Amino acid sequence: MPTDFNELTQRLPHLVETCRAYATQGRVATYIPELAHAPQLALGITLRHKSGLTATAGDCGIPFTLQSISKVITLLLALMDRGEQAVFEKVGMEPTGDVFNSMLKLELVQPGKPFNPLINAGAIVVSSLIDGDTAEHKAERVLRFVRDLAGDDSPSFNESVFRSEEATAYRNRSLAYFLKDNKVLDQDVEPTLHVYFKQCAIEVTCAHVARIGLILANDGVDPSTGRQLVPKRYVRIAKSFMVTCGMYNASGEFAIQVGIPAKSGVAGGILALVPGELGIGIIGPALNDKGNSTAGVHLLRLLSEQFDWSMF
Ligand code: DON
Repeated sequence: MPTDFNELTQRLPHLVETCRAYATQGRVATYIPELAHAPQLALGITLRHKSGLTATAGDCGIPFTLQSISKVITLLLALMDRGEQAVFEKVGMEPTGDVFNSMLKLELVQPGKPFNPLINAGAIVVSSLIDGDTAEHKAERVLRFVRDLAGDDSPSFNESVFRSEEATAYRNRSLAYFLKDNKVLDQDVEPTLHVYFKQCAIEVTCAHVARIGLILANDGVDPSTGRQLVPKRYVRIAKSFMVTCGMYNASGEFAIQVGIPAKSGVAGGILALVPGELGIGIIGPALNDKGNSTAGVHLLRLLSEQFDWSMF
């Protein structure tokens, strides 16, 4: 049954206040020092329906950086730049069941190709496949694409978050050097990481993320103009990865409890969508032990139960 958007709009403020309590059980990410300043108890949501209706509640206006949500966007851009064959020569299609920055399987499974584009190793390889003359040019192209999908030119790089990650990314550097050693990464390590850290540091609000979700929910077409922003085939690939790998090693549980494509980031953002209907942007900086927004996941669970969203 299609979502009753008016009913949803009415129930939303109460649902957000109910779920905010879960934030106390989570922790704000601190391994990127600049992220530690995020408001622990914040929770906000924006939903955009393809009819043009929008619903918001809670702290939906606070800015946050995309972090791993950007991996979906660079995957789409790399597919558009290079095509499916070139991308999947370098990165696999399978979930890992490991944490997002794990190195384990890179050495266990030959030839060291990352399992999928949504773990850090895979996303770093995908960043190397973005077209552009320089690392900065590639990063600018990712930002342009985010703005196009968000339908707004206000998303920009948060330079403090970028520098904070760049200065402390020992693990991502080791992953990238490992990929280079295995010849999975053709480009140089530092310029590739520059693109990766910059894409993670793109600052948005829930409204932008909800608009990106809406484009994916609508098979790559902007419902307000009818323009195809992303080929349907690539949107299908991205949504499949969101279902199988989008919430990292909690993706199986999320599929059972919520049952819609979603992608989280360590700043506490979640990009989600109800296929054919609507896009969702959530911010809730306190993370659970799997690195997903604790209150945000609870909110999606309640919404999915109450509006029968599961695809399964
Ligand atoms: O690579 C990192 O560690 C971050 N810039 C992004 C990781 C992330 O968002 C994982 N998400 N849950």
